[in-house]
Amino acid sequence: MRDPVGVEALGDICITGGGPLGGTISVQSSKNAALPMMAASCLHKGTSVLRDCPRIADVDSMIRILRRMGADVRWEGKDLYLDCSILENMVIPGTYTERMRSSVILLSVMLARKGRGSLGYPGGCVIGKRPIDMHLAALEKLGVQIRESPEVIEAECGRLKGTGICFPKRSVGATQQGILAAVLADGETVLENCAREPEICWLCRYLQSMGARIAGEGSDCIRIQGVSQLEAGDFRVPPDRIVAGTYICAAAISRGCITLERFPDGELDAFLQVYRKMGGQYEGKSGKLLANGNGVRFSPGRIVTETYPGFPTDLQAPLMAVLTTIDGVSEITEQIFENRFQVVRQMNKMGADIRVEDHTAVIYGGRPLRGSRVQAQELRGGAALILMALAAEGETWLEGDSFIQRGYEHICEDLSSVGGMIKKTQEY
Ligand code: UD1
Repeated sequence: MRDPVGVEALGDICITGGGPLGGTISVQSSKNAALPMMAASCLHKGTSVLRDCPRIADVDSMIRILRRMGADVRWEGKDLYLDCSILENMVIPGTYTERMRSSVILLSVMLARKGRGSLGYPGGCVIGKRPIDMHLAALEKLGVQIRESPEVIEAECGRLKGTGICFPKRSVGATQQGILAAVLADGETVLENCAREPEICWLCRYLQSMGARIAGEGSDCIRIQGVSQLEAGDFRVPPDRIVAGTYICAAAISRGCITLERFPDGELDAFLQVYRKMGGQYEGKSGKLLANGNGVRFSPGRIVTETYPGFPTDLQAPLMAVLTTIDGVSEITEQIFENRFQVVRQMNKMGADIRVEDHTAVIYGGRPLRGSRVQAQELRGGAALILMALAAEGETWLEGDSFIQRGYEHICEDLSSVGGMIKKTQEY
């Protein structure tokens, strides 16, 4: 037992580098699917259930906002019950909304339920400018008047009116905003140049199960025929493809072998192609994926992040951690968010040699990694630092666990269960 006062000063998590990981992990449910489903639940005047909802900080932040709006939200084990019979308060200040990006999609829900809403600006990980112009433009096309002031966005409409919207670029959030606003609107809405991420499809499937008339999800053109009301939802939140990818990276960086239960089949193909190029092997069988990272040693060359079905930006940092352990030069070009290489400084502290120029990081792999004191500054970068620490010599102390908790339900416990030496400070 160590002195807890001294330990706390060093960081939130202590990771000791070691050998290959081995064992089985069940993949948690998806953050990016759960959040819009929670918003969608507000479109039914009654109680909906999201089964197997991830218990993560971003879900907690969304619960706080929904309660403030008047919803009665409670957990029963891992199931989240959302009673949205009464939603009265359509004024949500920035102190609530700035905790995460997804808060902005509640605008459409407020408009559909009450014809008005006032929302503080959304926050989220600082990985780029992350504007909301396309969200607001889509709502305006559906007949909403919007007034922006430095603190709040105020929106008002009579009834939402179906229309045609062509997004100037593919955005997950703006597509979700459009869908949520259109399902109860008068008439037909046609959304073009939509994002095609699996989370869009899951949102549509959830809404369809509530009676929404949506066609074309997963393609870039989604057609929605407005209905007058939605039934109660009862739906299982799907597994998280980014968490699954992070754990495959854990197998790769430790040259170990991890079986993933609840694998999000078919949602990680671009990532798995890169993993295979690096020498990783995998085999999928009845909802499970066995990832054998034993043979990982080849640089995949240049990777470019893209919208789905391309290589996901959310797995860019975990992949970069793996690339630091592979001899030779690899490159990652980030096309989605302009400020998503903050983690590089922390990785270099651990002995990596990564150089960033504009939107490209060049990774000179194979340098010896050593345990250090590092800081998580955003969600996925934080997870990537845990992976790197598993491959480093000695102890790494990581600060900023709160960022990681936004999206990973129990990453430390999961990786410990397959042999990683990871402890949270409070466990000392
Ligand atoms: C979602 C995911 C996030 C993921 C990202 C890209 C959730 C809760 N978050 O974020 O994990 O990294 O998709 O896959 O699902 N943009 C604009 N104007 C807008 C909206 C977006 O210019 O109105 C830009 C963004 O700055 C970014 C790009 O469009 O450069 C894509 O962003 P978007 O797909 O909207 O990401 P999010 O929905 O915020």
